[in-house]
Amino acid sequence: MIKNMRKPTFIVKRSLKILCLLTGFAVMTWSFSFTKYSGSQLVNLNVLPARLKEYMYFMGRRLKGAYLSSLNIADNHDIPIIFIITPTYYRLVQKAELTRMANTLRLVKQLHWIIVEDFEVINLKTQEFFQSTGVSFTYFAQSKRNETNNHQSKGTDQRNAALDWIMVNHNPSMPAVIYFADDDNAYSLEIFEQMRYTKKLSMWPVGLSGGRTYETPILKDGKVIKFLAWKAEKRKFPIDMAGFALNANVLWTYKPMRFSTDADPGMLETKLLERCCTWEEIEPLAENCTKIMVWHTRTEKPKVRMFDNVLEV
Ligand code: UGA
Ligand code: MN
Repeated sequence: MIKNMRKPTFIVKRSLKILCLLTGFAVMTWSFSFTKYSGSQLVNLNVLPARLKEYMYFMGRRLKGAYLSSLNIADNHDIPIIFIITPTYYRLVQKAELTRMANTLRLVKQLHWIIVEDFEVINLKTQEFFQSTGVSFTYFAQSKRNETNNHQSKGTDQRNAALDWIMVNHNPSMPAVIYFADDDNAYSLEIFEQMRYTKKLSMWPVGLSGGRTYETPILKDGKVIKFLAWKAEKRKFPIDMAGFALNANVLWTYKPMRFSTDADPGMLETKLLERCCTWEEIEPLAENCTKIMVWHTRTEKPKVRMFDNVLEV
């Protein structure tokens, strides 16, 4: 009888012990799933800023710290390659922006799209998306470097990493052009065909830029004589990233052709172009800068109240 009475208590105690062990194990597994090694440092992703928390919300996304390169750029060797450099970062509209951009770029021949994820690792779902577009691309991760003082400028370290990539992977004897195309702008197809033959530096107007309807070089007899742009008097090349292309040769001729990591906001473009070019060398495109062919559009941050995550946006 006594034996029979003790048995249930024993079973309850033992079950409780097992439950405690299991709970402990589950908590440990959970907390480790939010930690990862970055170099020699253990990073707890729980303490990272809000946008990374948003990223972690979609833990279903597989992450990996490698880059993928698909170099089937042998579309048409008779025309120069256009290298498109796009910094990008995770937010709810990222896939929508990249989809729209891919739909434009897939219509351009002899183009290689270098997309640099502003994070420690690339997103394999995003990589699968790029593969599905049929666009020749390279996708890798570059987080903001510690020594970058100016954290206000967006995409700087990512664009510099893409320039490093070009210098390693491109043979400078092959004609090529570089264009920095942010993921949220709107691009006409025509501008790509015009920029392809850039001798050194080409420029054109950018719609909806710098707080104006457009920013543009002003020409006289085919030469730039001034700019209609935000802070035109303080910047030698007052032009948005979307408004110029460079012949890839400048990377080898003017070292280091990289964006300054301590540039004040709005000074990125001019500081880069001052390293290699003069006003006299600017080739005006878009019918002598009389047509708007790119727009500095910006996507509104969605006001989301319900985070359903069965489907990925
Ligand atoms: C303006 C210019 O058009 C950019 O070329 C310039 O880099 C930027 O200002 C700047 O402040 O330095 P804006 O529309 O304000 O652009 O910037 P975003 O479009 O938000 O960002 C520019 C690019 O960097 C985008 O492709 C974006 O995806 C990427 N980005 C932005 C990152 O990679 N990481 C970030 O944290 C933010
Ligand atoms: Mn933008």
